[in-house]
Amino acid sequence: MHLSAFELSLLNGDSGPAARKAMQILAALGKIYEAEAMIPVSSVQISGVSYDNLGDAGLEFLAEMANGGGKARVLTTLNPAGMDVENWQALGIPADFASKQMQVIEAFARMGVITTCTCTPYLVGSLPHFGEHIAWAESSAVCFANSVLGARTNREGGPSALAATLTGLTPAYGYHLDEYRIPTITIRVAARVSGTHEFGALGMVIGKVLEAAKLKPLPYIQGIPGATLEELKSFCASIATYGGCALFHMQGITPEASLHTPPAKSLTILQAELDQAVLSLTASRQTSASSNPGLLPDLYSLGCPHLSLREIARLAELLEGKTVKKELWITTARPTRDAAERMGYVRIIEAAGAKIAADTCCVVTPIGGRFNTLVTDSAKACYYAYAKNAFNTRFLSFEQVIAEALE
Ligand code: F3S
Repeated sequence: MHLSAFELSLLNGDSGPAARKAMQILAALGKIYEAEAMIPVSSVQISGVSYDNLGDAGLEFLAEMANGGGKARVLTTLNPAGMDVENWQALGIPADFASKQMQVIEAFARMGVITTCTCTPYLVGSLPHFGEHIAWAESSAVCFANSVLGARTNREGGPSALAATLTGLTPAYGYHLDEYRIPTITIRVAARVSGTHEFGALGMVIGKVLEAAKLKPLPYIQGIPGATLEELKSFCASIATYGGCALFHMQGITPEASLHTPPAKSLTILQAELDQAVLSLTASRQTSASSNPGLLPDLYSLGCPHLSLREIARLAELLEGKTVKKELWITTARPTRDAAERMGYVRIIEAAGAKIAADTCCVVTPIGGRFNTLVTDSAKACYYAYAKNAFNTRFLSFEQVIAEALE
């Protein structure tokens, strides 16, 4: 692998121990993936921010990098943290967890990372353009950036994303290269798909097909007449979760689709498969309510991926003058929450009794054992609710979640 004079100086420790460690990580990755060189990246998004996932070992690594003089060289934001950093008490977060979480955020801040914690950085000021090389980590954001925006990123792990921040570089392999962006299978969608939950269910169906067939997951999707930004972010979260898909092309919708011919190998998704997927995401997986009478019955949650301002506006419209009867959490990025506050939406939503949780989400916050069932429009949240927190799940449309929370 060719390294420039600057990259060699980083490896020599000329910019301090943290930058040296970062360059070592990237050089090792480049060797594994047989990259010929490093390429500059214009932005980074770091995952592994919740103390729930990081633990003390992760916190120590971050502190070591901050103490070693690590400084962000490019625009860098964070994935959701384990709590709303300004309002964690209202969500019932334990004080000792909050203290550790703040140490994590503080370590990132010392390195010059922008401590906006969100899986939708593209909605709040980190919006790469077509063809731009970036190093992002959160799977849904990676899929959105590659597919919807036409930017170029592999799915980074926490350490490699931090290494990209401290050097401004990433090894040139995978989705950074044209040959890895060529579709491998045509997926024809012969079903009506509408709303965030149905796009999430479709992502699950296609993702599972790719997984089951052990296919290199790069589908060319046909048959979708149109999709909103919110539907696409839901689809990205789901196809990434269920199929490990970091890039798809959608005919007439995503920017690189017109550069490719649909692959000859194809399969069709039928309406019945989509309907079955929607049903299957409502699932009783355990009997925790009977075995643990201390559990609250249901957590209603919208905001996986983090809600856009348009979704919050819709929410305010549905909740105005009403009172929710259930525990309802709305998760979003803090800049989106702040914009919603200026528009008066936060006042309406909170007056109805819903809780707005910025900086976090229902998957990375430590709520395992507090609720029996997660009610959501997110196929990705359903997956992790079971895998991580052993919740039952109920999968409804955005509007249905609100309607039930009001009953
Ligand atoms: Fe985002 Fe959390 Fe969902 S990180 S995509 S809201 S699981």
